[in-house]
Amino acid sequence: MSDNFQFDVYAAFYDLLYKDKDYKGESDYIDTLIQKFLNKEKRKTSLLDLACGTGKHLFELEANGYAMLSGSDISKSMIEIANKNKKANSKDITFYDYSFQESNKISQKFDVVISMFSAMNYLTSYADQSKTLFNIHTLLNHEGIFIFDYWNGCAVTESYSPVKVLKKKQDDAEIIRISETTLDLISQSATVKFTCNFIKSNQRLADFVETHYLHYYYFSEIRNLLASHGFEILHISPFMHMEKPVTPQEWNISIVAKKI
Ligand SMILES: C[S@@+](CC[C@H](N)C(=O)[O-])C[C@H]1O[C@@H](n2cnc3c(N)ncnc32)[C@H](O)[C@@H]1O
Repeated sequence: MSDNFQFDVYAAFYDLLYKDKDYKGESDYIDTLIQKFLNKEKRKTSLLDLACGTGKHLFELEANGYAMLSGSDISKSMIEIANKNKKANSKDITFYDYSFQESNKISQKFDVVISMFSAMNYLTSYADQSKTLFNIHTLLNHEGIFIFDYWNGCAVTESYSPVKVLKKKQDDAEIIRISETTLDLISQSATVKFTCNFIKSNQRLADFVETHYLHYYYFSEIRNLLASHGFEILHISPFMHMEKPVTPQEWNISIVAKKI
């Protein structure tokens, strides 16, 4: 399904916008967490990436030795691009276009579920968060692990930027994205309006505006959500810094939770 049209427009420009994102480093970090908290050979470890976008973490994990990989995203366009990327990169990864909320339609079970780049923040109601955690619990094998990162409310409210500009260029294509963010401190929500201009061979080809709605979490909320859906937290750290303690200033926090 894809009633989430915003991500379908965004998908066309996603890989260009994030061409410098360190997917390899992040996937090595995910691998280190898996090696530490799941006692299983990589090759035999099944892994599902929920809200996988264009599949970049999965391709890196495959290059790193994982062989039983799947991904799913609410956006059909993201999945279309993931399938195109797969032709160039992958031996075999299965992609689905199910949302978090509908991920229970995936019939397989997994040793690991991941959800990266703050995708869990796109769940803005308790009903959606609860359904998602219920689904992830069902999707995991006994003692399987769920790895994700999220926006930390303490840092978001202290240090968010109301306006940010990102420019990316590749060959004769350029994208300029202006992000305007407003917070609602009562409902713990961030509204991010993206205005994007896409330029190719010095010609303005496409302009689009889309608005993303996110919920930022506080740790006590994450702890309660996980505990009440049958998970035990094994690890918490700043994203990409597994040995460091979490401070209120950390924008991105990563969690490893085990199905109990
Ligand atoms: C910031 S991107 C992260 C994509 C990918 N994990 C990455 O690291 O590049 C957020 C992704 O969440 C997806 N998404 C948003 N809401 C979703 C939902 N309810 N269920 C599944 N995917 C969702 C979007 O389509 C988008 O691909």
